[in-house]
Amino acid sequence: MALKSDATRWGSLAKFFHWTIVLLILAQAIIGLVMVELPKRPSSIPVYSFHKSLGITILALAVLRLGWRLFDPRPREVAGMPHWQALGARLGHVLLYVLIFAVPLSGWLFDSASSLRPLYWFNLFPLPNLTGGKNEAVKEFAEGAHELLFWVLVVVAAGHAAAALIHHFHNRDETLVRMLPWRNRAGRAPSSEVS
Ligand code: HEM
Ligand code: HEM
Repeated sequence: MALKSDATRWGSLAKFFHWTIVLLILAQAIIGLVMVELPKRPSSIPVYSFHKSLGITILALAVLRLGWRLFDPRPREVAGMPHWQALGARLGHVLLYVLIFAVPLSGWLFDSASSLRPLYWFNLFPLPNLTGGKNEAVKEFAEGAHELLFWVLVVVAAGHAAAALIHHFHNRDETLVRMLPWRNRAGRAPSSEVS
């Protein structure tokens, strides 16, 4: 399977980034929601540290994904998609790109402004403090932003996933299938090739 996308198919690297980030965000959301319910005890610290390290990993993958996207233009929309729908999808994708940066960055900002402990990536190497120490105002803002942006991500991603499923089950086009990792290896013709 080709690494790069072409006019009708997503390349394997674009698919890898898409689905890895989806799975990690799902795991991260569950960990985050459970974590804030834990008693504020030293025994909860490893869970927080894991959440922060996994979040930084998602941020790094988002940077790599966007970098790769600059060299790897997306395929055309499948044939026959109305203009308003293509525009709505693009807008949703831009929002999702913004959110996979904004959610982890707001978490990192909150951690920096709280300045409880130095931030390490999986105990391996330290990460910079974004605020240069404790900052109560930024802490409060970033805490609220992290939670709010997370819920915005949930809503936009749910709409995005619903649109993909409608394309698959209602319109019966290739939109979802051509993003799936195990498809297109044998080169099943996407519908736009026969338009
Ligand atoms: C895509 C990445 C991330 C997702 C989806 C995510 C998701 C969440 C969620 C759902 C919560 C619970 C919010 C609540 O109900 O109050 C949370 C809390 C938290 N997150 Fe993240 N997070 C991400 C990245 C990060 C990063 C990179 C850091 C820090 C480096 C971080 C630090 C925190 C902290 C410290 C809390 C606890 C907030 C509090 O005590 O109110 N998160 N996160
Ligand atoms: C956290 C969840 C998700 C995020 C952040 C996300 C993000 C994105 C982004 C940014 C794109 C545009 C790619 C580009 O133009 O470079 C995209 C495309 C796509 N996503 Fe997702 N996605 C998520 C979940 C899902 C789920 C659950 C499904 C399936 C049910 C899905 C199906 C698709 C499909 C089919 C495309 C290609 C659309 C097209 O060809 O126009 N995504 N996704």
